[in-house]
Amino acid sequence: MADQITNNSSGVPEDTNKPIMSSFDQSKLRELIRLMEKQQLSSDPVLSKRERDEAAEQQATHEFWNTQPVPKSIETIQKDGPLHPPLKPEEIRQDPYALPEGMVWCELDIERDSEMTELHELLLNHYVEDSDSMFRFSYSAEFLRWALMPPGFSKLWHVGVREAGTGVLLAFISGIPVDVMVRDRTMGMAEINFLCLHKSLRSQRLAPLLIKEVTRRVHQVGIFQAIYTAGRLLPKPVSTCRYFHRTLNPRKLMDTGFSKKLEGVQLLKLQAALRLPAQPGVAGLRAMRKGDVGQVRKLLNRQLKTRCEVAPVFKTDAEIAHWFLPRQGVIWTYVVEDAEHPGRVTDFVSFYSLPSSVLKAPSAQGGSGVRAKGVRKPPGAISKTASQQHAMVNAAYLFYYGTKTDYDVVLTAEEKAAAGGQKKEKALVKERVDALIKERLTELMRDALVMASAAQFDVFNCLDMMDNAMFTSELRFGPGDGFLRYYFFNYMARNVDASKVGFVMV
Ligand SMILES: CC(C)(COP(=O)(O)OP(=O)(O)OC[C@H]1O[C@@H](n2cnc3c(N)ncnc32)[C@H](O)[C@@H]1OP(=O)(O)O)[C@@H](O)C(=O)NCCC(=O)NCCS
Repeated sequence: MADQITNNSSGVPEDTNKPIMSSFDQSKLRELIRLMEKQQLSSDPVLSKRERDEAAEQQATHEFWNTQPVPKSIETIQKDGPLHPPLKPEEIRQDPYALPEGMVWCELDIERDSEMTELHELLLNHYVEDSDSMFRFSYSAEFLRWALMPPGFSKLWHVGVREAGTGVLLAFISGIPVDVMVRDRTMGMAEINFLCLHKSLRSQRLAPLLIKEVTRRVHQVGIFQAIYTAGRLLPKPVSTCRYFHRTLNPRKLMDTGFSKKLEGVQLLKLQAALRLPAQPGVAGLRAMRKGDVGQVRKLLNRQLKTRCEVAPVFKTDAEIAHWFLPRQGVIWTYVVEDAEHPGRVTDFVSFYSLPSSVLKAPSAQGGSGVRAKGVRKPPGAISKTASQQHAMVNAAYLFYYGTKTDYDVVLTAEEKAAAGGQKKEKALVKERVDALIKERLTELMRDALVMASAAQFDVFNCLDMMDNAMFTSELRFGPGDGFLRYYFFNYMARNVDASKVGFVMV
């Protein structure tokens, strides 16, 4: 899940363009915790809300999560494996968990337009916001259909809570089935997403009930592991990825407060630095079609298996067709067809659309990024013009890609002799393969940016997962201030480096 709205830098190299909120490193965090222990934190006006939230998360006692099969925050994991074995049928609770009076469980049948509208509106008004409440994710109904109805989905895992009297939808949590590779094991899991509570029902311990209820339903079909993501710190992430942003429409991002405001020469320089070619550069790039499905599946599974430690496994063509065939306004996938072998696909790249509503525009001084920490916005400083001008920031998010990973790199006899040993030869081959992949990915991603820009996206986002670090700096992505943490339910796994995460949650 893109669980975190993260503001961005303007897309120029890091040293000249710091993210709006400074990155939150561990030493600063420790210092904040120290401050908190002295009870200074809650009232400290120089800390941002995000910083206070993160420090509080570090201090949390996790009354709920401590009762669940997840590793403790302080636990050092030596060996991968489940925390408990599969439950026997008689150990699985049959009845739904009790809800507070006046609330009832429901399953959302999102194939019905009326129920899709209810879900869409709940998320539109109550789902994830950035820490300053300037933006809120705005998933379209078509997007939700795509995300929640892959092959094998069950509406029993689209769990809602309604107000008993009025039937108003108050909360939601979803699961979809997914096969997940974690290092050398592949397991059937539930991918849990879209946890959302009406704003009026926060801090009443309802989230644990939703989580327990969806878990119960997942257990009932014999699945005992889950994967989920959150921006916040819970016990205990298997990996932490950072958001990177590539500005496509600098003026709009500045107007909405998504990016730091620049003027005059600085702005002109930025625009020049961000200029993209008018047309894609990779020969044979075209939109994916039905006939490409099998080849895309092969490329993707091989890419994920050879380059990642945590990734989905796409077992059927139907899954690939669902997730990758272009859908207007939802998912864009381009393949590269080999000119010498018509019909043969050598690479592909995909991205999806996840706009954010602009809730309030930055102050007249030019956005949260230029306000000194602790200086409050003067009352009435909201720029009505900017917020009226732009209702949405149109963000494209990188989905999956695949490129030939089995490059034939053969060392010459001299190179072998110079390497002096098989281990070093292997390292040299890996270095060469990585260089080839880097070159190809950079070309592919440049074209993805060109296509996203042509489709009127304002910004292109990705995490520092997979091989993304190979192209982000060259293509002028800047680090954002948000992180996405990956978690497993009932599976302990040793920490996975961000670059080895190959699982995109929408
Ligand atoms: C996320 C949300 C449902 C949490 O609701 P809440 O009212 O703040 O929390 P509750 O009082 O009901 O429950 C608190 C418990 O839920 C846990 N929790 C909160 N958010 C969570 C999340 N995203 N994933 C897993 N657990 C979460 C807390 O850690 C806490 O458990 P703990 O005491 O063991 O730490 C609510 O804030 C919301 O709808 N936010 C907007 C949408 C959103 O951010 N969704 C999450 C995307 S990952």
